Amino acid sequence: MRVPGRVNLIGEHIDYNGLPVFPMALQRAVRIVFRPRNDRMVVLHSSDERFPPVEFEIGPKIERWSQGSWGNYVKAPAKELACRFEIQRGFDGVLQSDIPVAAGLSSSSAIVNAVGLALAHVNDVLAEPGEFAGLMAEAELFVGTRGGGMDQAISLGAKDQSAAKISFNPIRIQHVTVPDDWCFIIADSGEVAEKSGSLQFEYNLRRAKCEEAFRVISTNLLKQGITEGLHESYPELCASLDTEILLYFAEKLLPETEHRCFRHVVTEAGRVEAAVERMLAADIRGFGDYMNASHDSLKTDYQVSTEVLDELVQVARDGGAVGARLTGAGFGGCVVALAERRRTRDVLGALRAEYYERRGRKNQMDEHLFIAVPSRGASVQVI
Ligand code: GLA
Repeated sequence: MRVPGRVNLIGEHIDYNGLPVFPMALQRAVRIVFRPRNDRMVVLHSSDERFPPVEFEIGPKIERWSQGSWGNYVKAPAKELACRFEIQRGFDGVLQSDIPVAAGLSSSSAIVNAVGLALAHVNDVLAEPGEFAGLMAEAELFVGTRGGGMDQAISLGAKDQSAAKISFNPIRIQHVTVPDDWCFIIADSGEVAEKSGSLQFEYNLRRAKCEEAFRVISTNLLKQGITEGLHESYPELCASLDTEILLYFAEKLLPETEHRCFRHVVTEAGRVEAAVERMLAADIRGFGDYMNASHDSLKTDYQVSTEVLDELVQVARDGGAVGARLTGAGFGGCVVALAERRRTRDVLGALRAEYYERRGRKNQMDEHLFIAVPSRGASVQVI
């Protein structure tokens, strides 16, 4: 079985607000070779010695291990599936992954999906792909980070050579072919962004701020009779009023932090729609401009960037990228840059010289700096 990581092209920190995002799956993936068992045990070894073997019995009452333990990503889908389906069999398996860990490329959701698919396979669980992605997103909440559904959906549903606009409630995927002469480059800062560790608090805090901002704005608009009907979600709110009007009320009604978060969310939602149009029109400069604006908003309004990520973004832009931004949850991890294919060498060269060599990290370059190949989603192979 092969389950890919992903790079988010645009639409950061808005999936958990129910708003569409625009990622693509990567050539880097988690692979699990597994054999069904006749009992309900899962025994999973990793080829990476940083991750000790995991062993537990499947059931609806599985308890979490301590925070930061990778085994929680294995338990998460087991618990979710056991709550919803007849799960009588576990598996013995070996996991191998070439997705950089804790780098914003969704190595953890790839594990959740892979274990979920293995269990579904050995227990003959049938679910629609969208429904299964939703289940896996629910499952991952077990780890304690209140994430959205982007990572699971793209990793399961991606198509070769394509990015995908993903909408939520219910999950829908619009595939968009990446133009041949566009090249996305990923550069890993090496700053660890551990979503199940210290990042968890910051991540959940921002989500809570978004929820509070939504509550204040939507109840006020209703009270004042400005919007008709009920506005129960960000997508409904964004569809019912222009961004300028929403921002006008946000400025009047919200405290500083909630205001910044709200501004990021509604402007990022607009950038996703516009950027998808730019890719469909093969307008690389237009797409790059939205990536740049997204990074600036994540830095200034959402405050999830770091000095190192800002530096990498700047080096990529100066080296000839038409756009660059942090990707994933931030607080470290990777940036994604977009360049015309004929400028790829320039951008890679600038990143090598100005970032990796300067920091004496030449030997990590192959692992940390690579071209993102838009790849297909998960597949299970029966041998
Ligand atoms: C993490 C979460 C996603 C998403 C991103 C930020 O990767 O798992 O659901 O919220 O952060 O866009």
